Amino acid sequence: MSIARRDFLKLVGSTSLAAGLASRPASATVSNTRIPAFAFDDDSVPMNAANLCPMPVAVSEAQAAYAAQLQRSLSTSSRQSVESKKELARARIAKLLGVLADELAIVRNTSEANTTVVQGLTLADEDEIVAWDQNHPSNLLAWEIQAARSGGQVRRLSVPVTAGSVDEVVANFVAAINKRTRVVTFTHISNISGFRLPAAEICAAIRERKPDIHIHIDGAQTWGAVDFRLDKVDCDSFSASAHKWFMGPREVGILFLRKQHIAKLWPNVVSVPWFGSIEQPPAGARKFDALGQRDDAAIAALVEAVAVHEALTPAGIEQRSAALALRLRSALEDLAIKLVSNGNPPFASSVLILSVPRANAMQLVNQVFRDSGVQAAPTGGMRISPHIYNTDEHVDRIVAGIARNRGLLTQPG
Ligand SMILES: Cc1ncc(COP(=O)(O)O)c(C=O)c1O
Repeated sequence: MSIARRDFLKLVGSTSLAAGLASRPASATVSNTRIPAFAFDDDSVPMNAANLCPMPVAVSEAQAAYAAQLQRSLSTSSRQSVESKKELARARIAKLLGVLADELAIVRNTSEANTTVVQGLTLADEDEIVAWDQNHPSNLLAWEIQAARSGGQVRRLSVPVTAGSVDEVVANFVAAINKRTRVVTFTHISNISGFRLPAAEICAAIRERKPDIHIHIDGAQTWGAVDFRLDKVDCDSFSASAHKWFMGPREVGILFLRKQHIAKLWPNVVSVPWFGSIEQPPAGARKFDALGQRDDAAIAALVEAVAVHEALTPAGIEQRSAALALRLRSALEDLAIKLVSNGNPPFASSVLILSVPRANAMQLVNQVFRDSGVQAAPTGGMRISPHIYNTDEHVDRIVAGIARNRGLLTQPG
């Protein structure tokens, strides 16, 4: 423990905090469900699920075991036994999301999944793409680059982060579409404000107005975080990364594409198992995950990550993470600290953002880490995104760290 940390503990004067820092087990029981063990150090607690999550030990160990197996033997049977896990993962993820395995591509990350849609649709000059202005660059600038290259116009859509009702938000989307609109693309939960868009209601309203619009949802902050099923949301495509809230292996992601669109979307990368003729693509959405040699051990470990979500259930995970976010929000509100993130239940998420002068954000995040041992991010302000591996004590620690450094919330650094 650093001197600064010891000073901080003395200042805070909490013995339970000190005990927690010294020896908190990385697994805990919540209701009747045991949260899987994680290997992070207690003085380096991640609270930045919106960016990157630790894997449960069972997942990282499985990945290491698969990699070791391939080191020992690259025989056909050894490789096939690892590679075959990809189809198992595809089927079980599809079940959790309420889609067909054939509609799911296992790609490398959300950026690649978004890009597959951006570059895969054929756009004409008169086509309009409506994109939420809070989208990630891979789902905003990527469309603008594509439009500059091949035609079409991008219309950036704003939604007030202080919105009061679902109808008000839906009306923003409906007002932005017209007879030229070909695509509407939005992020379900924003990584820069934490605002959760009412995805099902937006899709239904767009369908009613113009059924042939391609609706793409970026689910980077959704998959593994909330109970979200694609049989309840009428979008055409959906992207996500396993290394965020899903707590899965790095550089593995998914692209869902509804059955009727698979044939008409162009692939960006064409490699084996494409073979022979363009009339014979790999089956279903697999045509988008033929990316050449992959890290098969990482993809195989996806099965272990899926098992965690099956055991804890998406609803159970959402509930646990939401309880931590609520504890955090309440503690910050008690300190009269201003949040960017909308706390109104339909729009709230576990991505909480504190309003911080831009020049101070990095310094604040670093000082809070130094003082509390909890890592947040300088995105959109100070972004804190707790997940199931966090505890109430972690939340209390980061709040104490913020309280100690609160001068940076308002003053120049
Ligand atoms: C909403 C959103 N979309 C896409 C991405 C890109 O994810 P990746 O780096 O895994 O491709 C991020 C990353 O933070 C994100 O927050």
